[in-house]
Formats: sequence, C-alpha cells, structure tokens
Amino acid sequence: MNLKSVLFVCLGNICRSPLAEGIARDLNEKNKWNIKIDSCGTSSLHRGESPHIKSIKTAKDYGIDISMQKSRPINVYSDMEFDIIIAMDSQNKIDILSLGFPPNKVFKLGEFGEGQDIPDPYFYPSDEGFKEVYLLIESLLHKMFIYYGFSKIKE
Ligand code: 4NP
Repeated sequence: MNLKSVLFVCLGNICRSPLAEGIARDLNEKNKWNIKIDSCGTSSLHRGESPHIKSIKTAKDYGIDISMQKSRPINVYSDMEFDIIIAMDSQNKIDILSLGFPPNKVFKLGEFGEGQDIPDPYFYPSDEGFKEVYLLIESLLHKMFIYYGFSKIKE
C-alpha cells in the first residue's frame, strides 16, 4: 500500500493521539514522506481544547511542539478518506468500528508491536506515565512506518 494519509484516534484527543500526531508529523517532515497526518477523539469531551499540559511538556522534552493542536471528535464523513485509522487502545478501535469505518483500514497502534494498548495517562497523570506513553508511541510508530515501507527512518 502506498500510504498517503493516517489518522490517530484516542478517547479525548488531548493525551495520547496528540503525541502520536506530533511524533508522526516530525518523522514525516524530517524524512519528506509527504503523508497527511491528523488526530481526533472518539468523544467530543474536550472539543477545541489544547493537548494535556503534560503531553505538551513531554513532547517538548523530545523537541516536538504539539501546543498548537486542538481536540476534535472523529467525523464519520470527512475522516473516511484517511488510508488508515490508528486507535490507541482496544476500546477506541471498537468505538471507531461501531461508527462504520471499514475494518480493513482500522488498526490499533499496538498491532504493529505485541498487541498492547497505549495506556491512558489521563486519570493517573504522572510525569513518568506520560514519558512511558511517549516512548511506547514513538517505538510503535517506527514499526508502523517500517511496515508501510518507510525504511531508513531519519529521526
Ligand atoms: P486521551 O485521554 O484519550 O489519551 O486523550 C483522555 C482524556 C480525557 C478523558 C479520558 C481520556 N476524559 O474522560 O475526559
């Protein structure tokens, strides 16, 4: 598959998927892949909000600015055009599929690793927890891009 667009999805679009979007955008720019990248939530709980302060801080520690992102809920019409839709955990994937997105384009990020969920740091927001989530997302994104043929990744 010639991957042209990817949408990352979590529940609130303030903790996990903004990190996935930020890291993926950074790789996309550095490697000149020209992939369209976005993120959203299965809920509209945080619509219009900036990412969680600890997601912003953690990304910044690794040289990535996600402060300009704004939470938005998934859209069953306009988001259909993404080549792949990447859920952060199993419940996100169930919710995306229940909205009618085609199963052949919906995956969990952990499926590119050992099948793990990206833990939700929202309810226990420790600095260490956000860092672990960042590093897990980063490592799984590398595997995902390699799976889609983007080898020799410049970091
Ligand atoms: P996220 O984390 O899905 O990684 O953005 C959450 C953010 C907010 C809530 C739950 C998870 N919430 O219940 O408001």
